[in-house]
Amino acid sequence: MSIRVHIDGAVCLPEEAKVSIFDRGFLYGDSVYETIGTAYGRLFAARDHLVRLERSAERIGLRAPPRATIERAIADTVAAAANPESRVRVILTRGAGKLDLDPASVDDTQLIVIVFPLGAPTAEMFEKGVSVAIVSITRNSPLAIDPAVKSGNYLNNVLALGEARRRCRAYEAILCAGDGSVAEGSTSNVFLVSGGEVRTPPPAVGILDGITRAKAIELCRANQIPFSERRISPAELRGAEEVFITSATRGVLPVTSIDEKPVGAGVPGPVTRRLMALYDELARRGVD
Ligand code: PDD
Repeated sequence: MSIRVHIDGAVCLPEEAKVSIFDRGFLYGDSVYETIGTAYGRLFAARDHLVRLERSAERIGLRAPPRATIERAIADTVAAAANPESRVRVILTRGAGKLDLDPASVDDTQLIVIVFPLGAPTAEMFEKGVSVAIVSITRNSPLAIDPAVKSGNYLNNVLALGEARRRCRAYEAILCAGDGSVAEGSTSNVFLVSGGEVRTPPPAVGILDGITRAKAIELCRANQIPFSERRISPAELRGAEEVFITSATRGVLPVTSIDEKPVGAGVPGPVTRRLMALYDELARRGVD
C-alpha cells in the first residue's frame, strides 16, 4: 500500500512533492480536481471524470493540459503506487504568480496526480449502512461558484462535514440548497427510495453532477427500476423507506440513519441492495 505523486512531469514519493506557497490552488482554491477510483484493478469511468475535469477547467477559464498528458500521468502514477485498488486525485491549479487575485495574472497550469490506496468503505459499512446529518450550512448557490464545477474550493463542504461529525458523529453531511430542498452530501450525491421509486435532486438544484450518480441512474433505467429527478424536502428524506449516497470511492452506499433516527427499518433496503449488486456487476465488467 503506497502513495505516489506526479508533479513537475515526474512521479515521486509524497515527501518529495512540493508546491509553491504562491500557487493559486494553495492561496485561493483556484484549482479544479477529480477523484477517480479503481475497481477490479482498473480505473473506473476515467473518461467521464476527465471530461468533467476539462469542463470544470473551462468554466473557470483554467487551461487544461492535453487529455493524453493527463492520462499518461495517471497511468504512470498508478503503476508506481502498485496498490491493489487506488484512489486517484487529479488536480489542475492555475499555477504560481504574484499576489494578485486577477486570474489573468498567471497562466502556468500545474498538473498534480496523487495516488492513494482506495480506502473504500468497510464491508460493515456496506452491510449495515452509514449515518448522515442534515446540516445548517447550505450548498453554494449555482450563482456563486457553481457546485457543478468541481473546484478545489471546498471550505463550505469542509465545514458542513465538521458540523455533521461534531453534532452527531455522522459519517456524511447532507447539505440543502438555498431554497431549503436537499442538495447533496459533502463529497457524495444523495438518493431516496419511496414507494419503490428511486429519487434524487436534479442538477438545477445546484449539485455536482456525480459520475457515480449518472451510473446509478443508468442502472435504474436499464433495469426497469422506477426513477425520477425532483426536488426533495428534508422531511421527505427523513421519511423515506431507503436512502443511499453515491461517489467514485464508495459506489452505492446505504444510509440507515439521519440525524440519529433510523431510515425505514434501519437496515439497507431491497432497492439499495439491488443497485449495489448492479453497480458491482458494472464495475466488474469495467467502464473506460
Ligand atoms: N467527491 N458531490 C460532491 C460535492 C463531491 O465532492 C462528489 C465527489 C460527489 C460524487 O461525485 P462522483 O460520483 O463523480 O465521485 C458529489 C469525491 C469522491 C472527492 O471529493 O474526493
